[in-house]
Amino acid sequence: MAVDILLGLQWGDEGKGKIVDVLAPKYEIVARFQGGPNAGHTLEFDGNKHVLHQIPSGIFHDNIINIIGNGVVIDPIIFRKEIEALAKYNIDFGRNLFISKRAHLILPTHRLLDLASEQNKGTSKIGSTLKGISPTYQDKIGRQGLRIGDILLPNFKERYHEMVQKHFSILKYYAFNIDEDIKKIQEFAKYDFKFETIENTYFEAIEYVKQFNLADTDYLINEEIYKGKSVLAEGAQGALLDIDFGSYPYVTSSNTTASGACSGLGIAPNKINNVFGIFKAYSTRVGGGPFPTELNDDTGEKIRQIGREFGSTTGRPRRCGWLDMPALKYSCMINGVTQLMMMKADVLNDFEQIKVAAGYHTGTGKPSNKLTFDILQQAVVPSYIDIKGWNKALSGIKSYEDLPSELKAYVQYIENELDIPMSIISLGPDRSETVFKM
Ligand code: GDP
Ligand code: IMO
Ligand code: MG
Repeated sequence: MAVDILLGLQWGDEGKGKIVDVLAPKYEIVARFQGGPNAGHTLEFDGNKHVLHQIPSGIFHDNIINIIGNGVVIDPIIFRKEIEALAKYNIDFGRNLFISKRAHLILPTHRLLDLASEQNKGTSKIGSTLKGISPTYQDKIGRQGLRIGDILLPNFKERYHEMVQKHFSILKYYAFNIDEDIKKIQEFAKYDFKFETIENTYFEAIEYVKQFNLADTDYLINEEIYKGKSVLAEGAQGALLDIDFGSYPYVTSSNTTASGACSGLGIAPNKINNVFGIFKAYSTRVGGGPFPTELNDDTGEKIRQIGREFGSTTGRPRRCGWLDMPALKYSCMINGVTQLMMMKADVLNDFEQIKVAAGYHTGTGKPSNKLTFDILQQAVVPSYIDIKGWNKALSGIKSYEDLPSELKAYVQYIENELDIPMSIISLGPDRSETVFKM
């Protein structure tokens, strides 16, 4: 069968960009199916380091078609910047990049609404990336959004201004002060956001987008599958940020799970073959919300420093903690994961002991090993098991056999607990620092 899905099993930033780039040569198409510029996917190869936000991570390989699917939300200004940042790679975007006409457009006012909504939440902020993700998906579900295909229609500007007026009336509800509050978005999101100039920049970016292949990518992808071509569907965020199954409301606004690949690309479920579930050897989360194994201590800080756990999109420090088996099991269950890929094993090189949460002690004293609705409503204390660390450098190791026995035991423990084989163990950010187990 033709389609494999790669998705994050935790709260995002698992290393999806690196692995999509590593696996891309085995596929003819790489397709992003949800999310938008809230994502930051880092790729390192040949001394280059590059962070992609909306463009699929197969873009650095010739002869691979990259698709931005209908499930993605696109900010044209950020898209333009991303393309311009790729100039030195001489990529033939005319051949290699297709954007769904059904993908929804992020408007400048969506970003203001994101900020206004976050400010209004007081102490229970989601910790949004402030890229306008939630307001854009709200308009999509509310059946009033603007889509990429609309920019080619004669009444686009009219519809844009109508939408902006609606947004301003909501901003009034939030008592949003354009001049004052925009400064905050500029500071936080490092985004040049002056409303007087933003619309010009926005419309210039819209014109810029028109030179790319704006297509019925649902037909394109299915016709290619029919011809026997293979597709790697690239997830953004992670299963625990899914709008339905994540730690709601501390989630993103799309289905980050396997079903999102079907709805976000127009692929039928019976075309799906493998689901690659990717996770870090520990856990991280950026933004608010429950995180049972979070370490607010020196160990958490040590993981953050060694793992360089600072957001690829916002630069925010990521919250760090031990691996959470109930959470991983849940993610594997709802995604039908067929292969596991463990990232950043090297970050734990310097630990004599590693801990893994095997379950939770709940407020009522009842133990649980499930990430249920109720568990997510309370402060649970993980019940940890100790695992002996390998406590040595892994640089230069190319084969599974050569890994330290303690790391192999860690891999086997996870495989046994999840009853799923592991195919990749990642030992560093570079393409080459990847060990294949099967
Ligand atoms: P994504 O959003 O899932 O693509 O992940 P990010 O790019 O946001 O964050 C992953 C970070 O870890 C990036 O800085 C990667 O370069 C880095 N990374 C990926 N794999 C490894 C690994 O095996 N070891 C180390 N040390 N870093 C890694
Ligand atoms: P990648 O694809 C990690 C988090 C935000 C916030 C919540 C909602 O790089 O793994 P949003 O901007 O979507 O409204 O934010 O989700 N978040 C991510 N965390 N990696 C990501 O993407 C994320 N995208 C959103 O921090 O808590
Ligand atoms: Mg990321």
